[in-house]
Amino acid sequence: MNKKGRGTIEEDPFGVSEADDAFFKAWNAMDVALEADFLRVGPYVVMHEWERPLMQKCAELMSVHNSDLLEIGFGMGISATSFQEAGPRKHTIIEPHPEIYKTAIYWADSFSTDIRIIKGTWQDCVEDLGTFDAVYFDPCHAPSRQELDRVIFIRYAARRLLRDKGRLALWFRNKYLPYPFQQVLLEHFSTVFLTQVDCGPPPVRLQQRGYRDKVVIPVAIK
Ligand SMILES: C[S@@+](CC[C@H](N)C(=O)[O-])C[C@H]1O[C@@H](n2cnc3c(N)ncnc32)[C@H](O)[C@@H]1O
Repeated sequence: MNKKGRGTIEEDPFGVSEADDAFFKAWNAMDVALEADFLRVGPYVVMHEWERPLMQKCAELMSVHNSDLLEIGFGMGISATSFQEAGPRKHTIIEPHPEIYKTAIYWADSFSTDIRIIKGTWQDCVEDLGTFDAVYFDPCHAPSRQELDRVIFIRYAARRLLRDKGRLALWFRNKYLPYPFQQVLLEHFSTVFLTQVDCGPPPVRLQQRGYRDKVVIPVAIK
């Protein structure tokens, strides 16, 4: 049972448990620093300039022109800026960290499009958002829920968030799509296409965490 007592969407416990809630509280209290080429939250490097080609390719693949777009996680705003360049009709962004949220509000001011920034986690607000033509999922996860949250989100997006022919893209650091995700995407979407982006050799700190030069982007069509 999650902290809001909602329990499940179908059989999925997508609300944050008390342990995860503690993680997000700690997360939101960590200091944020935008270094020369990466964004650090507490001890974590959450986004790196190195990923820019990946974000740009993702925006290109999602073809969000005139679409209603939902984006989970603002980070350095690299994907958000690439999506804006494509001209969405409406762009909703969910971001829980208070400092990053402020940056996102400031960022949104420089565009004349309809942009809505929501402060919170996707687990907290996803039920109240309505439906979209395109969704990009790139948050951070509580350590115990890396895989689980993605699976839960995929199912939820297919059932409740996306309109007919809506597109879902997710961030992976892998070179190939891990098999369990291929399975869950194909179970819930009519088509899944995979694109591999060559970002060049990753910075050492990312290599140490298992990043490689090539990264897969799955885009699933409802
Ligand atoms: C990897 S960054 C996103 C990078 C972004 N795509 C870019 O191009 O810069 C992840 C972001 O998701 C936010 N986040 C973490 N947990 C989240 C959650 N449960 N729901 C929504 N956003 C979350 C983090 O605070 C962080 O800003």
